[in-house]
Amino acid sequence: MTRVAVIGLGAMGSRVARRLADAGNEVIVWNRTRAKAEELGLPVADTPAEAARGAEVVITMVANPEALRAVTEGDNGVAAGIGDTALIEMSTVGPAAVARLAQRVPTMLDAPVLGSVSEAETGTLKIFAGGAAELVERWSPLLSMLGDVIPVGGSGAGAAAKLVANSTLFGTIAVVGEAVALADALGLSRDAAFAVLGVSPVAAQAERRRPAIEAGEYPPRFALRLARKDADLIADAVDADLRVAEAARSWLVDADDAGDGDEDYSVVVPRILGER
Ligand SMILES: NC(=O)c1ccc[n+]([C@@H]2O[C@H](COP(=O)([O-])OP(=O)(O)OC[C@H]3O[C@@H](n4cnc5c(N)ncnc54)[C@H](OP(=O)(O)O)[C@@H]3O)[C@@H](O)[C@H]2O)c1
Repeated sequence: MTRVAVIGLGAMGSRVARRLADAGNEVIVWNRTRAKAEELGLPVADTPAEAARGAEVVITMVANPEALRAVTEGDNGVAAGIGDTALIEMSTVGPAAVARLAQRVPTMLDAPVLGSVSEAETGTLKIFAGGAAELVERWSPLLSMLGDVIPVGGSGAGAAAKLVANSTLFGTIAVVGEAVALADALGLSRDAAFAVLGVSPVAAQAERRRPAIEAGEYPPRFALRLARKDADLIADAVDADLRVAEAARSWLVDADDAGDGDEDYSVVVPRILGER
């Protein structure tokens, strides 16, 4: 049993807190919108700093770099209450935000996740762990309650690995959408298009997305606004010539600017198909 503070109770953080509590850990929570914290039925702290005091480890799972600064810095932030306690940063915020936080909290791991709400609920996330080897080892048993821990290097490596992983998501969804658009333009039926995609390199994604594409409904699992944030983080992180990533990002940006940000990121497909 570990005393864990979970900061940030959105789609992912609420599941992380619930799963850790159900596994027998003593979990205290904090969320900017307090009502969401109270819904969980776990002890609620008044500030992130208060949640950190008394915990053996603090987990942050918030939207973006600005949110991470808001919950970790200042008089009420995690850093003010954390002392020698470990911090496991699980949001997708990129290496620069991790480097900034690691200056304030040296006992920190960056451990962002691949997988969405159902994987968080079932403990089948992939967790990219960056940080000192002894810290990774120390906290792997706890993280294993949430998924498979994949050590990827020193501080910031987890955040970097997560951007690499997500670059493949955005490229793939754009390829699926454009392949269906091409099939439409060439006069193939949708059945024929999905039969072809089913034997192509994007078979798994095409099959997974087909029900939403046919229903025209894209309820959020991984919100488009968060995917756009990640595509922006990728573009800002490096000078590398990433032409496909930039093209995939342009679809995310168009859909977000058009007001689809709260739907699933796969909502780029109807935009590619000219249905929106
Ligand atoms: N959803 C997925 O499938 C998925 C998968 C892998 C990784 N991720 C990453 O995991 C992180 C969390 O994702 P999510 O889906 O849980 O997002 P979400 O449902 O939008 O929740 C975002 C959380 O961040 C908090 N927040 C936002 N701005 C804040 C601010 N300025 N100050 C304090 N708190 C703030 C929100 O608080 P309020 O409740 O007050 O708004 C909420 O707790 C993101 O970095 C995302 O990219 C998501």
